[in-house]
Amino acid sequence: MKDLRFGIIGWGYWGPKIARNLDSLPNGSLAMVCDMDERRLASIRINQPWVRTTTRPEDVFASDVDGVVIATPVRAHYQLAKAALLHGKHVLVEKPLTANIAEAEELVALAKELDRVLMVGHTFEYSPAVNELRKLVQSGDLGKIYCVEAERVNLGLFRNDINVIWDLAPHDVSILLYLFGKTPEQIKVQAHAHLQSRICDIAHLDLSFADGMAAHIHVSWLHPCKIRRVTVIGDARMVVYDDTNPAEMIKIYNKGADVHADPGVSYRYGAITIPHIDWMEPLRLECEDFAHCIRTGSLPRANGEVGLQVVRVLAAAQEALEAQSDKAYPVMVS
Ligand SMILES: NC(=O)c1ccc[n+]([C@@H]2O[C@H](COP(=O)([O-])OP(=O)(O)OC[C@H]3O[C@@H](n4cnc5c(N)ncnc54)[C@H](O)[C@@H]3O)[C@@H](O)[C@H]2O)c1
Repeated sequence: MKDLRFGIIGWGYWGPKIARNLDSLPNGSLAMVCDMDERRLASIRINQPWVRTTTRPEDVFASDVDGVVIATPVRAHYQLAKAALLHGKHVLVEKPLTANIAEAEELVALAKELDRVLMVGHTFEYSPAVNELRKLVQSGDLGKIYCVEAERVNLGLFRNDINVIWDLAPHDVSILLYLFGKTPEQIKVQAHAHLQSRICDIAHLDLSFADGMAAHIHVSWLHPCKIRRVTVIGDARMVVYDDTNPAEMIKIYNKGADVHADPGVSYRYGAITIPHIDWMEPLRLECEDFAHCIRTGSLPRANGEVGLQVVRVLAAAQEALEAQSDKAYPVMVS
């Protein structure tokens, strides 16, 4: 089997993590790294001198690499991904796919026309814990799903080109779409910029679905604790997925309430179950999917169309944020 050769554009925080995974694939290797900032490339020249380095993305497009990963800030995703596709490369773009809907639509159409793989870095769709949660949701064991609460908060990493919604919410939105296979009908947003002018660092998103299901997403760069939690509230069972607790990532609670019970509300306090999860690094599974789809021509789990759907939700959130009324309603003090 021919070895696949990969190029990465963007060697900041995330690029090296993808590189480590691509480079450890059987029949796959990191061949080229590009960053516009020459200083970032010094570590590769020392540690992996056989990997070609460049400050010019065009050198990657003109090279013989099969797949290109775009791990630059979001505003550069569209131009770089488009150029890579036009040079016949298969492309994995970091999340979110693009900074607006029109760009995402164009990339999806272009990849289809050129018969190239277009994938987006929705890493959590590859998490074994998220897949366990998905099985639970789809089995019907949780009963009717009332609502989902997602929290993704920590101190930083602050960005200055996009707000916290575009930075962190792609993960929660992609998890929601992946778990339930449906897109929200409406979205409301409350967000505030505390440390940088006009760049929100704390946001609450309220999503409502046609069947009455609700989802709340809280994302923040300004929080003392690292929390990455998704809670699914069903009428039969409730599940907490805690990505920061490797030993107990999924907990299933047999808990609930019946408000029509006679004589009063009856509460159910049953067992808590913690399923065993065979752990693999999600980013490794994501890279395997990219390589597999390049070889077979199949559609990645986090394909361009999925990336577009997430961008549609983020764009609706941005619109809701911009329309956020300045009108405040006074709290009546008697
Ligand atoms: N999937 C995940 O869990 C995950 C986690 C973190 C970041 N990300 C994504 O990865 C991407 C990069 O994030 P990061 O934290 O590494 O950012 P970063 O700022 O640390 O690094 C970005 C790098 O890209 C370089 N760059 C910018 N424009 C370029 C261009 N036109 N050509 C070549 N190089 C260019 C910069 O010099 C910088 O070194 C973002 O899209 C982010 O959303 C994904």
